Amino acid sequence: MSIHTLRRRSGIVALALLLQTGAAALAASPKPVAAEHGMVVTAQHTASDVGVAILQNGGNAVDAAVAVGYALAVTYPRAGNLGGGGFMTIRMADGRTTFLDFREKAPLGATKDMYLDASGKPVKGASTSGWLAVGVPGTVAGLEYARAHYGTKDRADLIAPALTYARDGFTFDAGDAAAFAGGSAKLAMDPSAGPIFLGDDGKPPASGERLVQPDLATTLATISETGVDGFYRGATAEAIVAASKAGGGVLSQEDLADYRVRELKPVTCDYRGYTVISSPPPSSGGVIICEILNILKAYPLGESGSGSAKTVHWMIEAMRHAYVDRNTELGDPDFVDNPVDRLLSEAHAAEIREEIDPDHAGVSADLKPEGFGESHETTHYSIVDEAGNAVAVTYTLNGSYGAGVMAPGTGVLMNNEMDDFTQKPGVPNLYGLVQGEANAIAPKKSPLSSMSPTIVTKDGKVAMVIGSPGGSRIITITLEAILNVIDHGMTIQEAIDAPRIHHQWLPDTVAMEPFALSPDTVAKLEAMGHTVAVDKDWPVWGEAAGILVGGPSLADQDPKRPQRYFGAEDSRAAAGAARGY
Ligand code: DON
Repeated sequence: MSIHTLRRRSGIVALALLLQTGAAALAASPKPVAAEHGMVVTAQHTASDVGVAILQNGGNAVDAAVAVGYALAVTYPRAGNLGGGGFMTIRMADGRTTFLDFREKAPLGATKDMYLDASGKPVKGASTSGWLAVGVPGTVAGLEYARAHYGTKDRADLIAPALTYARDGFTFDAGDAAAFAGGSAKLAMDPSAGPIFLGDDGKPPASGERLVQPDLATTLATISETGVDGFYRGATAEAIVAASKAGGGVLSQEDLADYRVRELKPVTCDYRGYTVISSPPPSSGGVIICEILNILKAYPLGESGSGSAKTVHWMIEAMRHAYVDRNTELGDPDFVDNPVDRLLSEAHAAEIREEIDPDHAGVSADLKPEGFGESHETTHYSIVDEAGNAVAVTYTLNGSYGAGVMAPGTGVLMNNEMDDFTQKPGVPNLYGLVQGEANAIAPKKSPLSSMSPTIVTKDGKVAMVIGSPGGSRIITITLEAILNVIDHGMTIQEAIDAPRIHHQWLPDTVAMEPFALSPDTVAKLEAMGHTVAVDKDWPVWGEAAGILVGGPSLADQDPKRPQRYFGAEDSRAAAGAARGY
């Protein structure tokens, strides 16, 4: 080959690399939303506006996160909540990091076998519908803890926007109507919830119509005036306990009055020069994301390319092994000794890589015992403020509209988080989830979660904020967004929109979103022994919300550009928006 040909070839290679990594102008997705001072990305546009207004009025990212948490309870009730729980990962601009765990806990009256019949079989629906499915909610305690310890604003200022939207209503747009679709049957069954959300025709508001929630406004006003006691004691608590008793549940006044937020140290790991800060147990999210990243960092994913058979094979095998650990080793840290250091050690990653055959799929059945699944609705939001404080929140009712129950007069939909526990070790739950003893039900214990609110830093500064709903798939959604940005050079919007793949040990199949892999890539993977298919029950999943700092992609960072923050809401989300100022 002549020097000339060689030069021309390397020119082509350089151009190809540029297109691969720095091609913001050629993005297949819309450009991320750019802003100079702050960014709020949520699954509901009105809530995003609420967060931006708080930032503009001098609130910090935690203030905005608290106001958004209350607002989503009004404007996005299938997942936004007061009656559920969640996690908040915080990184303050001065470098402090922390993790607030306001996940639900099992009531004192809960027992290990509470969802089993006399013959020991799980009772269908018992852990997902009705009052027995409800865990002690943590959201109000969590938002108030965050505000008191890391916020700057008064409680009433942060609740006011939610209160106004509940009392005066808000107008649905087409996205809101689409986001509401599918919940009517569940909501209609509850005598308190049905009349609030559904019209005489049994349908939720259409685009252009208003949703007014006066009972929820009363509860928000009580919390605004009296703080956590407005929810965990007094009239609201009494109404919840009475409705639970009447509906066959076990919630007590003591459960509510005793609820405490846990402030925990986030899980961290290094990945190609970036620091990933994410959720510790009782979430499996941060541990499993970091375990997978530790395995993958020895493979040149950027070189093998996004969506190539080689890259996907490595990802699948890392996921397969890490999900075995998720399902067998992890649980609430107050009850289980979680082997986090071992799971995140270089030695563990190396052992797993030893077991990965470069040319053949692993066999899940050969790896310890069982597998899993999960249910549908949660929400994630990401916020960065002018000072560089960053907050990632994932919170949930678990299923869409939770257990579908509401105590009369409260306007508060209750979670069905109890379904995240192991109902019976070795037996799959409604969603095929088979977990072990570490996640067995016990009073005051939190069920193991997959929620992964994550912040990524570089050289001591926030680089990215990311997370998503998606049940057991939250972990791989968040992971893939990180890989797409760091290894594949995508913009934050492309990284979030890119079709996903998922493997969770059992079932031993690779779920792929439509068009995630080309037919010849699928053929290559199948030749290696993988089973790859679009999951008919859940073909498209997740609603990630992310922010990248400094540029739309890592390759396109221009310090002279006035905008510092680039926000992206998942194109899969009907009502979401990235908003900045
Ligand atoms: O905590 C968990 O892992 C689940 N309760 C999350 C549920 C979820 O993401 C459903 N949304 N698609």
